[in-house]
Amino acid sequence: MRYIGNKTNLLNNINQVIIENCDGNEKVFCDIFSGTSSVARFSKNRYKIISNDMLYFSYILQKATIQNNNLPEFKTLKEKLNIDNVFEYLENENVKNANYKYFTYENYSPNEKCDRMYLTTENAKRIDYIRNTIEIWKEKNLINKREYYYLIASLIEGVPFVSNITGTYGAYLKEWDNRAYKKFEMIRLNVINNLCDNECYKEDANQLINKIEGDILYIDPPYNSRQYLPINSIISIKRVISRVYKK
Ligand SMILES: C[S@@+](CC[C@H](N)C(=O)[O-])C[C@H]1O[C@@H](n2cnc3c(N)ncnc32)[C@H](O)[C@@H]1O
Repeated sequence: MRYIGNKTNLLNNINQVIIENCDGNEKVFCDIFSGTSSVARFSKNRYKIISNDMLYFSYILQKATIQNNNLPEFKTLKEKLNIDNVFEYLENENVKNANYKYFTYENYSPNEKCDRMYLTTENAKRIDYIRNTIEIWKEKNLINKREYYYLIASLIEGVPFVSNITGTYGAYLKEWDNRAYKKFEMIRLNVINNLCDNECYKEDANQLINKIEGDILYIDPPYNSRQYLPINSIISIKRVISRVYKK
C-alpha cells in the first residue's frame, strides 16, 4: 500500500536486525505504530503479534490480517443471498440505482459541485457502492465482524491502485494517470494462521505501552511532529521511547 513510512521494502533489513539481536526464543512481537501492518504481517508466522495504531484504517487492516487467523467463508451471504463470490459480486454488481450517500464520489471525484480528480467518477461510485453494501450487510447480520473487517480491509487496500496521486492524498494530479483508469478491484488479502491469540489495538501508543508485554518491540513512529491526521494534541513519541528504555 502507498502510505508514508510503509516498511514493505525494508522487511528483510528489519528481519536482519532481529536475527542479529535476538536469540530466537522470543514469542511475542509488538508493532505499536503499525500503519499498513506490513511489519506485523511479515512477523506473524513466527510470533504472537500485538499491533496498534491510532488510525482506524490501520486498525481495520490489523483486524483483518493480524487478529484474524482464517479466510472468512461468507456462509450467510451464500445461503441467504445466493452470492457465491463476494468479491466479484461487489466489484461488478450494477450501482446505478443505489439509494445511499455517495461520499467518495461527492468529495474525491469530478461531479456537479467539485472538480477534484483523486478518483475517476466510475471508481469513486464503485467504492461508495462497496462501502455502503458492506455496512448494509453488517446491519442485516449477513456478515459477522470478522467478515466485515476483512471486506473493508480488502476495499481499503484496493484504493491506492486506482488513486490519481503521487503518493499522498495532499493533492491530486491535474491530468489523469493511467493507473486511475483501471477498473477498481478489491484486494484478496492473504491471512496467515499462526495459532496465536493475536491482539490489535487502536490506542495512543503512550497509553498502550503500559498495558502490553512482549519480547520484541518494534517502534516506527512518524518522523516529525506532523501527525498523519490533523489532531489537536501532537503526541510525544519521545515519551514512549523514554519509557521503553527505562524498563
Ligand atoms: C511511520 S508510520 C508506521 C508505518 C508502518 N511501520 C508501516 O509499515 O506501514 C507511523 C504510524 O504511527 C501512527 N501513530 C502516530 N502517533 C501515534 C500514537 N501516539 N499512537 C499510536 N499510533 C500513532 C500513525 O498513524 C502512523 O500510521
